[in-house]
Amino acid sequence: MTSNSNHSDSHTSVLHETRSFPPSAEFVANTEVNADVFAQLNREAALDLDAFWCKRARDLITWEKPFTKGLDESNAPFFQWFADGTLNVSYNCLDRHLATRADKTALIAELDDGTVEHISYQQLYERVCRLANGLRSLGVQAGDRVVIYMPMVANAVVAMQACARIGAIHSVVFGGFSSKSVAERIIDAEAKVVITSNVGYRGGKTVELKKTVDEALTQTGSLIEHVVVFARDDSQTNMQAGRDIWWHELTAKQEANCQPAWVSAEHPLFILYTSGSTGKPKGVQHSTGGYLLGAVQSYLWTFDSTMDSGTASKHHKANDVFWCTADVGWVTGHSYVAYGPLAAGATQVMFEGIPTYPDASRFWQMIEKHKVTIFYTAPTAIRSLIKLGADLPKRYDLSSLRILGSVGEPINPEAWIWYHDVVGGGRCPIVDTWWQTETGTQMMTPLPGAMACKPGSCAQPLPGLSINIVDETMQTAAPRESGTLVIERPFPSMVRTLWRDPERFKTAYFPEEFGGRYVAGDSAMRDEDGYFWILGRIDDVLNVSGHRLGTMEIESALVANHLVAEAAVVGRPDALTGEAVVAFVILKGARPTGDDAAEMVKVLKAFVAQEIGAIARPAEIRFADGLPKTRSGKIMRRLLRSIARGDAITSDISTLENPAIIQQLQEK
Ligand code: WTA
Repeated sequence: MTSNSNHSDSHTSVLHETRSFPPSAEFVANTEVNADVFAQLNREAALDLDAFWCKRARDLITWEKPFTKGLDESNAPFFQWFADGTLNVSYNCLDRHLATRADKTALIAELDDGTVEHISYQQLYERVCRLANGLRSLGVQAGDRVVIYMPMVANAVVAMQACARIGAIHSVVFGGFSSKSVAERIIDAEAKVVITSNVGYRGGKTVELKKTVDEALTQTGSLIEHVVVFARDDSQTNMQAGRDIWWHELTAKQEANCQPAWVSAEHPLFILYTSGSTGKPKGVQHSTGGYLLGAVQSYLWTFDSTMDSGTASKHHKANDVFWCTADVGWVTGHSYVAYGPLAAGATQVMFEGIPTYPDASRFWQMIEKHKVTIFYTAPTAIRSLIKLGADLPKRYDLSSLRILGSVGEPINPEAWIWYHDVVGGGRCPIVDTWWQTETGTQMMTPLPGAMACKPGSCAQPLPGLSINIVDETMQTAAPRESGTLVIERPFPSMVRTLWRDPERFKTAYFPEEFGGRYVAGDSAMRDEDGYFWILGRIDDVLNVSGHRLGTMEIESALVANHLVAEAAVVGRPDALTGEAVVAFVILKGARPTGDDAAEMVKVLKAFVAQEIGAIARPAEIRFADGLPKTRSGKIMRRLLRSIARGDAITSDISTLENPAIIQQLQEK
């Protein structure tokens, strides 16, 4: 593990936060999990963790063949759960609802241009079956990998569910990633089929998804046998004969029923690539049974819902409309769009566009229009909407809301209070959920009916999760002392391995000195009430607008440019995006100045966007003749972080190999 948190000083405001917001008496009276139930759940889990999860796996999942054993630790840290049980995720999300609520709306899908489509569970089931049959007709079998590169339309979920139905392992790639990133993921996963769309729309702009796939496939040899292309509209795209097939043609003659593939609970459901401490993204591999259990159970707890919320007796839950704004390209869109809410039989909104188009009231308009009751979004969206129109929510009727949620990065108390007061009308608890791609599902959050919220704190672990903060001696950190966040015991939804890289899995998450504990990569502290506060990453991962970016990944992208000799990337705090990417670049030729430097900045920013995707584009690039290094040749990243922040350099730089370049790096 690398040094301690490099971001903690930017969170001092959080550490002085003392406000506390208990749920209203009305909320508590109607909650599924009040403080007593929460305490009871924790006692039950403490008594017998395995029995605790087995009971929930039986209650919440329909098994084809029941499991006889919960946790298997014999091959730690490659833990298994419910391994001899068989099930199908798509069956659990669709088929089992049909007898009682076939006509209930599963998806309210709103496109960028405002067109809305309501899709019932029956209709969703039929679409999924047709595509699943179509994929089978192309030769896709259980265990094959399918890359999904789609806009945020209903058919993105259909594609994921269709893969799950036939046991194919999907790897969704966010639509903003470049052709090179798509190619890398196809190659690493050895995918056979790509499912994409001719185009997508975001904020009125066309996203040429199929064109990007075509570019990617020039780099992937003969791996990809077929590309299934959803016609989002009638935009033209090049269709390569024999390889490319339109979704509507593939599915036109397929049956609206499809026998699900019953797979072991340990069968991989999906791979999702995420950034780590090296230049190469990690293929986080999730299971079928444990993952589904985590997704549905956390959905029910965190969002105070019941299975079959369509027939819930408790008042407003019968009409709950859930909206998670995350794209299916991220883990949040997997667990709280594609799987959790559907397994629970909920109605949810899906949105193709962006929060600021046609203007910054889009979210509020949609909450009013679709009577959203539970709204789950990212702090970066909240901050940008404050900036662009703090008063806009007041123009809409947001009284349907009962719970607000936050995910992906720390939410600063100012944004929290605005979200609470202006969006939530002061009446909605805010579930600030801490978790990761690797944990699969939510780990910590204030349970809305069981405890008070504190702005900026993710409160406490959900029942059945043993989360701790340890100091350098591996002892539990004292209250208010920062340390490394660890998870002590296995849990059902955790990452199973890194795709075809078990060694990296072990070293990345179970470093020896931590004695078998899962190391999350975050630093944190606990206050006197046992509330957790996340302080930042302890590795070289940045969090820009809630998206994980590896500094090494961006550095390798920069040095891939023939003009670049060396590059170092660090983060600096940003009021809007949480962190911003700052790159220090050494060119092969002379250090550019003036107009030349400005031109070079443009070229390199565009280059990074092309190599990785627009989300990785540096906010700032500075040039120098060299990087600050110790005499042993190590780049002094801490120094670079201070420079990026514009802090005065107070530390001793006399050990530097080349102290004179500090001034160059400080020049903008
Ligand atoms: C950060 C997103 C503070 C954290 C679900 C974690 C958070 C990383 C929160 C995972 C939160 C996520 N408060 N920080 N509520 N949620 N993070 O894999 O650093 O994209 O390790 O998963 O985001 O990002 P990932």
